[in-house]
Amino acid sequence: MQLLGDVLKKAADYLQQKNVSEPRLSADWLLAHVLGIKRMDLYLNFDRPMVEAELNTYRSYIARRAKEEPVSYIIGEQPFMGLNLKVNPHVLIPRQETEILVEKVLEHLKSQDPLKGLDLCTGSGAIACAIKKYQNSTTMHASDISVEALEMAKKNASSLNVDIVFHQSDLVNSIEGTFDFVVCNPPYIVQKVIDTLDNQVKNFEPHLALSGGIDGLDFYRKLASELPKILNNQARIFLEIGFDQAEAVIDIFSNPPFYSACCIKDLNENNRCVMIDYTASIKDKVCLAT
Ligand SMILES: C[S@@+](CC[C@H](N)C(=O)[O-])C[C@H]1O[C@@H](n2cnc3c(N)ncnc32)[C@H](O)[C@@H]1O
Repeated sequence: MQLLGDVLKKAADYLQQKNVSEPRLSADWLLAHVLGIKRMDLYLNFDRPMVEAELNTYRSYIARRAKEEPVSYIIGEQPFMGLNLKVNPHVLIPRQETEILVEKVLEHLKSQDPLKGLDLCTGSGAIACAIKKYQNSTTMHASDISVEALEMAKKNASSLNVDIVFHQSDLVNSIEGTFDFVVCNPPYIVQKVIDTLDNQVKNFEPHLALSGGIDGLDFYRKLASELPKILNNQARIFLEIGFDQAEAVIDIFSNPPFYSACCIKDLNENNRCVMIDYTASIKDKVCLAT
């Protein structure tokens, strides 16, 4: 008879030997998932005997984690903005940093009449689902080039009971209609940096979601040239950026019809997103601030 506390310790030690990041936390999350209990409740149940079926599932999870597969893909879910999102290897695992982008959009929506927005490059649908969940009066659209990612985004919208219109589109190419705001966390990693990322990112997350081309800025340049086709006058754009991309992205959006770009930092004082205003008719750049 194997007891939960002993099994957990053995699993964490094994993951540590395999040099997996966060071995104890990984072992905890995986076991909590197998048993369908909260992580903290593991600690109240160290003497609980584990049955063979639980052990078998847990062993298979630990074997996957030992190969550095992210915990979120193994258990098929990831928390984001207090919501439980389903994920699989076709979608980027939503990052906590991206919550700042969503918070900025929600702040903007609070002070406006109901708006119509688009989450471009939606992946798991994390951004669109969170906006719609917390500001239900918003008409929310979301798009991605990947059919498989859209399938996952639709599942998330359905399980969170939010109404979102989905489009499969290479950026704005197949998007019909115009929007009061666009939010986008595009792929922005410099191509040659991808090989240097953690194994759990580069070997498991979709490269389609990561690579921003030779300098990481391909998507921002395309967005600057294509977004005017789908923006209403006075629209606002919210973009996630890499910590070192603020100046370059603001520069890309520094000419009319874009007229005001400012950068938002995260709690660690890293540049995290850029907000840009758009006016269809503006002739001159009005302000540019970081
Ligand atoms: C960095 S991920 C962001 C996912 C999600 N919005 C999030 O924040 O977790 C970028 C997404 O862009 C999508 N993508 C890549 N190239 C694209 C393109 N040309 N047009 C539309 N979407 C694209 C990828 O499939 C991926 O889902």
